[in-house]
Amino acid sequence: KIVPVILAGGKGERFWPLSTPENPKQCLPIVSDQPMIVDTYNRLKDFDDFFIVANSFLCDKFRKLLPENVNYIEEPIARNTAPAIGLACITLLQKYGDCIVFFETADHYYEDISHYIKDIKNACTFASNHDKIVLIGITPKNPHTGYGYIKSGSNVENDLFLVDSFKEKPDLPTAQKYVKDGKYSWNSGMFIGKSSVILHEIEKSLPSLFSGLQNIKEGDFSKEILHDEFSKFEKISIDYGVLERSNETVVLQSTMPWDDIGDFNAVSRILKPDSEGNFSKNPIHSLDAHGNIIISKKLVALIDVEELIIVDTKDALLICKRSESQKIRDIIRKYNN
Ligand code: GDD
Ligand code: MG
Repeated sequence: KIVPVILAGGKGERFWPLSTPENPKQCLPIVSDQPMIVDTYNRLKDFDDFFIVANSFLCDKFRKLLPENVNYIEEPIARNTAPAIGLACITLLQKYGDCIVFFETADHYYEDISHYIKDIKNACTFASNHDKIVLIGITPKNPHTGYGYIKSGSNVENDLFLVDSFKEKPDLPTAQKYVKDGKYSWNSGMFIGKSSVILHEIEKSLPSLFSGLQNIKEGDFSKEILHDEFSKFEKISIDYGVLERSNETVVLQSTMPWDDIGDFNAVSRILKPDSEGNFSKNPIHSLDAHGNIIISKKLVALIDVEELIIVDTKDALLICKRSESQKIRDIIRKYNN
């Protein structure tokens, strides 16, 4: 049995003011005309069962957007992806016994769905025959410092390689070295493995998370125990917590077109530019203005400005240099404390 599980509990902070805690990017139509969670569901709806892990508030929002047959795993509090993945694995083990879990996120964009499904199915076949976690690697296009980098070792079969090492979010000089080296792939964030194998890797790398998960299982997933254990969990992503430390990973080197919708710059990779090279879903007026990204329901007029992000919502207006889009997270944190 193959079960897709979507990690959808993120805050989408770098999409503020479009994305807010009440309405994060997963619920918004950023790349198409549909909320990102709906696009994710549509891509995977041919699987028999489909699970989403997020907090209860978000699960309620998704229930309004998605068909009734979707299953939800509700986290009491966000503790980043390692606890969310652990909770999903123990839930599925209890429901189905051991099964193949395909973890995916709600913020990816794929141009070629059939290529995507073909690679995922190959990874699932490998994971059902071997006790390994299969990562999906993407050929790096630039030294992006927001991704994980996977170094391939020897070939296992076809596009699958042993993982030599995994480095989450390297600094720029390191990322530049990796891209030049040629042996590294970007970590797409998707991975596939038996629920028992993923849990075993959690046990080896994050023993206190593992014992908390055992308590949750023994406590029959009661709300109180879930909350108690989650509040004790360290906030850590699967990438830092498990993938950097595990010796049981392989990488499927994929050539599929893949994009991470991580911040407003992604909009420029998906929308077609207008004649002056600006990106907007609605028509804008521009005079000598180039390379700007505009999100607004109003008519926006630009004169002689370049490479800006301008986002106008009913509550807030953001003006930011495109090169500084990572700092949107910083300004939220500065004013929320
Ligand atoms: N349920 C749940 N709970 N989901 C979460 C939580 C949480 O506490 N935190 C984050 N998520 C979800 C997000 O909604 C997103 O879909 C996914 O997990 C990944 O989290 P991000 O915050 O977007 O991670 P990232 O983009 O910095 O890095 C990851 O993705 C990159 C590719 O997009 C890593 O896996 C990198 O190695 C990878 O290259
Ligand atoms: Mg992301």
